[in-house]
Amino acid sequence: AEPLRVGVAGLGTVGSSVVRILGAKAEELAARAGRPIVVTAVSAREKGRDRKLHLDGVAWHMDATQLARSNDVDLVVELIGGAEGAARGCVETAIEFGRPVVTANKALLARHGLAIATAAEQKGVAVGFEAAVAGGIPIVKALREGLSANSLNRVFGILNGTCNYILTRMEREKLGFAECLADAQKLGYAEADPTFDVGGFDTAHKLALLASLAFGVAPDPDGIYVEGITSITPFDLAMAEELGYRVKLLGVATRTGSGVEQRVHPSMLPKDAAVARVDGVTNAVEIDGDVVGALVLAGPGAGGDATASAVIADIVDIARGLRMPAFGVPAASLAAPTRAPMGRH
Ligand code: HSE
Repeated sequence: AEPLRVGVAGLGTVGSSVVRILGAKAEELAARAGRPIVVTAVSAREKGRDRKLHLDGVAWHMDATQLARSNDVDLVVELIGGAEGAARGCVETAIEFGRPVVTANKALLARHGLAIATAAEQKGVAVGFEAAVAGGIPIVKALREGLSANSLNRVFGILNGTCNYILTRMEREKLGFAECLADAQKLGYAEADPTFDVGGFDTAHKLALLASLAFGVAPDPDGIYVEGITSITPFDLAMAEELGYRVKLLGVATRTGSGVEQRVHPSMLPKDAAVARVDGVTNAVEIDGDVVGALVLAGPGAGGDATASAVIADIVDIARGLRMPAFGVPAASLAAPTRAPMGRH
């Protein structure tokens, strides 16, 4: 069968993992996809850096938009990050040229998801973003396909690995906030600008995508109440523990009489609640469905390989010919989002 030629834009933590794993598992993945999956092009800002990747014979593009236009690629993987700039240009160009896109970019999709999904539908190409929400947990597929029989009332969970890692270490080791954040950055969990993690905005981006999949509303991060973890101290965590609680940064989307309420803030959870027991970089999402009941999905929420696992799953789906609308339903049928009563943040 014809190989699927993949262009990878961005060779940071996730991009490097994707290229390495596509190479190392080429045979197994070809068997699953029914055709070989081959990286034919990459783009990154610094060409010289040693990423320990085999890139012989792979085309180098100086910028991501050029890669997206290139006739060497059938599918574009965008792993640059950021809602605007190079990432947005790359994704929009790929779609314009009729190429499917796989991205881990929650900021981009939370901001421009409706426009991107609409453009992709017009061109008849898929946009996969499994990796954009909760890292390695296949939550997009679960909401888009696995729970079709259900009406959902609430979706909530721990959606930022960096924050959960920081809270867990502050709690267990009584370490200060700054030290824990520095370690999360060293481990490759944090965003390029970690304010997105600790300020709650990354959780809000992911929540906007979950709410869209779960409730059929267009993603809109500006409608979400957002409070991060920057003012939490080891003392706060110890006090909560004494009362039988743990503090977690949660994203919560709830169907209400007037629409869908979305909020992000630190929450006190009874210690034995499923989501309260989740430690370190792990994410967890709890879903209440009218048919299935309550279920919890937990797993690694950040890091190169965990996120690459989700990116590659999308690539394999597209190689097989899957053509799902990005948010599960046609973009034109997504409802306008509800602005949270707590105000705009
Ligand atoms: N910075 C993000 C996190 C990466 O810590 O969860 C995964 O989206």
